[in-house]
Amino acid sequence: NVLILDFGSQYTQLIARRVRELNIFCEIKPYNKPPEDLNEYKAVILSGSPHSVRAGDAPHVDLSGIKGKKPLLGVCYGAQYLAHFNGGNVEKSNTREYGRAKLAKLHVDDPFLKSIAIGSQVWMSHADTIKSLPDNSVLLASTHDVENAAFKFKNEETYGIQFHPEVYHSTDGKQILENFLVNIAKVEQNWTPAAFVETTVAGLKAKIGDEKVILGLSGGVDSSVAAVLLNKAIGKNLHCIFVNNGLLRKNEFEDVLHQYKDMGLNVKGVDASARFLDALEGESDPEKKRKIIGRVFIEVFDDESHQVENAKWLAQGTIYPDVIESVSATGGPSATIKSHHNVGGLPDFMKLKVVEPLKMLFKDEVRRVGKSMGLEPNLLGRHPFPGPGLAIRILGDITREKVAILQEVDHIFIQGLKEWGLYDQVWQAGAMLLPVNSVGVMGDERTYEKCVALRAVESTDGMTADWVNLPYEFLQKTSNDIINKVPGVNRVVYDISSKPPATIEWE
Ligand code: XMP
Repeated sequence: NVLILDFGSQYTQLIARRVRELNIFCEIKPYNKPPEDLNEYKAVILSGSPHSVRAGDAPHVDLSGIKGKKPLLGVCYGAQYLAHFNGGNVEKSNTREYGRAKLAKLHVDDPFLKSIAIGSQVWMSHADTIKSLPDNSVLLASTHDVENAAFKFKNEETYGIQFHPEVYHSTDGKQILENFLVNIAKVEQNWTPAAFVETTVAGLKAKIGDEKVILGLSGGVDSSVAAVLLNKAIGKNLHCIFVNNGLLRKNEFEDVLHQYKDMGLNVKGVDASARFLDALEGESDPEKKRKIIGRVFIEVFDDESHQVENAKWLAQGTIYPDVIESVSATGGPSATIKSHHNVGGLPDFMKLKVVEPLKMLFKDEVRRVGKSMGLEPNLLGRHPFPGPGLAIRILGDITREKVAILQEVDHIFIQGLKEWGLYDQVWQAGAMLLPVNSVGVMGDERTYEKCVALRAVESTDGMTADWVNLPYEFLQKTSNDIINKVPGVNRVVYDISSKPPATIEWE
C-alpha cells in the first residue's frame, strides 16, 4: 500500500490513478491529516501544491516517521519541500516554467532513472525553482531550463522531482513511478480487481458478521457493483431496495429489477410512482422538483427500511471522487447524506452504521471490479442517469401524460443509438420535453403539438461536455420514428450546445 500526502495539487488524483494503473493500491490523505499508523505503507509520495514553500503559510507535514525510514518521493512542491527544509534553497524562478520540457542530462546511473532516456518529455508546472540542493543529496537529472529537475538524498531512498510524472504529457512518467515503487520501494503489484474482490469480501464478512444491511439500488453502476460485492459477502442478509419514482426510462423498473433478481440479489422493487407524481403535481420550478423528489425518496426508503427487521447497516455505492470531494468540502462522509440533513430530523435509516465498499475506487475501477464479478456489460456500460430522472427533462410541470410521451421518445432515441452502434461512443444521451407547442401538418390536418429536444454529449466526468456529432442519417431516421410513433409530438430538434455555457440537463 502506498500513501500519497496531498498538498492540494490539481494533479493529486492523477498520481493515484497512475499508481493504480501499475496494479498498486494507494490512498490519498490530506497533508494535515496523515494516518496515525504508517506501518501499512511501504512508500510515500508528496504531491504538488498551489503554495510556495517560501511562504509563511506553506503547508507543513511531519516527516519524522517517513524520511530516511521509508522510500519517499516528492513531486514538484513535494520536491521543493524536501530541498527547502533540508538545507537547499528554493527561489522564485525568473521564468515561469509551465508545459513541456525535455530531460537534457542524466547525471548518475540510478535505479530511479532505469529505462529513461535523454530527450524524454516531462511536464513542468511551477513558479518556484530549486536553486541549490541540500548538501547530502545527489543531482540525478536536468532539463535545459531546470538544473535540479531530479535528485536524491545520499544513503536513503528519498527522491525529489520537479516535473509531474503523473500527467500523460510526461512520456516516461509512469516508468519513473514504476522505478520508484517497484524497483526501489519493492511494493508488490498485486492490486487487481480479483484481488480487490477477495480482500473486500473477506473484510465485509468480518465487519458485518451476521447483521443485516440495507442498500438502495438505483440501476446505476456504483450501487449495482456494491450490491454484488455485499451479496458475495453476506448473501441474504443484504436487503436491496429499488424504488420506482415513476420518472425512470421506459420499462426500466421491470427490466432492471429482473436483471437484479437474475444476479441473485435479494431485492425488493417498490413502485412508488403515484406517491412521487402526486407530490410533484403543479410544480414547475426545477429546484423545487428536485427537493420534492429527494424528500419523497427519503420517506419511501425510510418506510421500506422499517420492513427489514433489525437492520444494522446502510450500504452506499459511494466512490473515491465523492469521498475526496466531500472531505475537502465538508470534512464529512457522503455528500448526498449531508444535503438531506435539513429535511427535519434524521430519518431512521440514516441512523444505521454506514458501509461503503467502493469508497476507495475510481469509476473505471468500479467497472473493472464489476466485470471481474461477471456483471453484464450492458449494466456496466450504462449512461449516467440523474436521480430525479425524467422530472428534470420535462420542462415545467409534470403530468403522467408528459412522462409517458417522454418515455416513448427517449426509448426510440436510446434504442436507435444502440442499434446504430453509437451508444458506447456517447457519454450520456436523453430527450427533453419542451414547454412549447408548435404548428405542424399531418395528412391534411393541422396539428398543434409538442416539441422534443434530443441531447447526446461526450464527457469524462460531466463537468464539461460537448455535443456529439451524430450522423445526419441517424438523426433523420430518429426524428421520423419519433414523430410517426409518438402521438402528441410533431417536432424534433437536436441540441448543439456545449457545457459550459449550457448544462447537460435542461433544468
Ligand atoms: P448538468 O445538467 O449539471 O449535469 O450539466 C451534469 C451531470 O449531472 C447529472 N445531474 C444530476 N444527477 N441529480 C442527479 O443525481 C440531479 O439533480 C442532477 N442534475 C444533473 C446529469 O444527468 C449529468 O450527468
